[in-house]
Amino acid sequence: MVVLVVVGAQWGDEGKGKITDYLASQGDLVVRYQGGANAGHTVVIGDDEYRLHLIPSGITAGCQVLIGSGVVVDPELLLREMHRVSSSGLSLEGLHIAETAHVVFPYHKLLDQLQEDLRCDDRVGTTLRGIGPAYTDKVSREGIRMIDLVSGGSFAQRLHARLQRLEDQLSVIPFSKARLLRQFRTYGQLLEPYLCDASDFVLRALNCEKKILMEGAQGTMLDVDHGTYPFVTSSSPTAGGACTGVGLGPTSISNVLGVVKAYTSRVGGGPFPTELTGSLGDQLRTQGQEFGTTTGRPRRCGWLDGVALRYATRVNGLGMLCLSNLDVLSGFDQVKIAVSYEYQGAVINNLPPTAEKLAACRPVYETLCGWDADISECSCFSELPEAARRYIATVEEISQIPVALISVGPRRSQTIKRREVW
Ligand code: IMP
Repeated sequence: MVVLVVVGAQWGDEGKGKITDYLASQGDLVVRYQGGANAGHTVVIGDDEYRLHLIPSGITAGCQVLIGSGVVVDPELLLREMHRVSSSGLSLEGLHIAETAHVVFPYHKLLDQLQEDLRCDDRVGTTLRGIGPAYTDKVSREGIRMIDLVSGGSFAQRLHARLQRLEDQLSVIPFSKARLLRQFRTYGQLLEPYLCDASDFVLRALNCEKKILMEGAQGTMLDVDHGTYPFVTSSSPTAGGACTGVGLGPTSISNVLGVVKAYTSRVGGGPFPTELTGSLGDQLRTQGQEFGTTTGRPRRCGWLDGVALRYATRVNGLGMLCLSNLDVLSGFDQVKIAVSYEYQGAVINNLPPTAEKLAACRPVYETLCGWDADISECSCFSELPEAARRYIATVEEISQIPVALISVGPRRSQTIKRREVW
């Protein structure tokens, strides 16, 4: 029995899509357990580039894939994505969707925009995909689930009640209720063949000794419970979310792989102690092509934050790391890793509990020699320059866990394996 959870150890965009695709090529089932179309995975296979938002990356590796109950599904976007995937020659036969996953409606996106506008200077910088409002409805028991779309009268009733409350709140709503009902019934019919009892589906795969990969979206520091609140997403990207987001007990999890980029990036608002706002930040952004897959926004960039990495190791119970985008650091004279923070004259080693305090922290860096060589064709650890190997050793010292995989480019083949992950 192998159930491997893959989580982002930073603020998302760590390159989980590529690593999931790499690992999925040796696996059987890939399950996405939280988030929605706010995520964006880019997978490069040969000359083809796939940009996925909802469909788990394993689809490109020919695996069975499951969108778990913890995901919020925008059916319109999902259908468009399915169309793109199948027109590029990939099969959708292995796609499954949890019948209990919640649905994102156009009013969630409208509310997302209105809430951001009201926040003025304290904007979270959401992706405006309706994620927060959809999870809010779920928790306040006003959500509508995939199964509801195909269950006749109760759907109409629930939608009517929800729209009534929206109308009370906004006085006018820019949708035709009847059209929305018709449209989402059609989506339900189109998606019905893919719906399943997710927990049972995963259990059956487990009982058949399948290799299962649970893919988290976003990253640890965006977790609603453990991230830099309130500058977070509305779900649980941390490893615990894999259990609730699928309906699988924690005793079934074999290991947790944290994907950490060799530097840090963040989109949206919120504190970022190691952010580089000058030419070094620009160099990282350009070399790493750090522009959002979902929104196209330029990502904020900075050095690797070892304090955040240690924290991610703790809250996820990481057993090993994949260090991604190491090739992007080629060409810097020096590279830095924050090993602690300085806060009001004192050195602290843990992540502070408030965004305000984190914003006031100054990173305390360990400076290492950089390297010039292009490492994107290195296929084993010993081919890496000495300075890059030293960098990896420092990441291991800080996190106290082994770096099992090193990614030196977007292709599957640009992955250095140092130990078995499965
Ligand atoms: P939301 O998830 O759209 O509500 O956005 C909440 C915060 O999470 C914002 O700062 C977003 O930029 C960030 N975020 C959401 N999804 C991703 C992602 O896939 N990568 C990086 N940041 C994300």
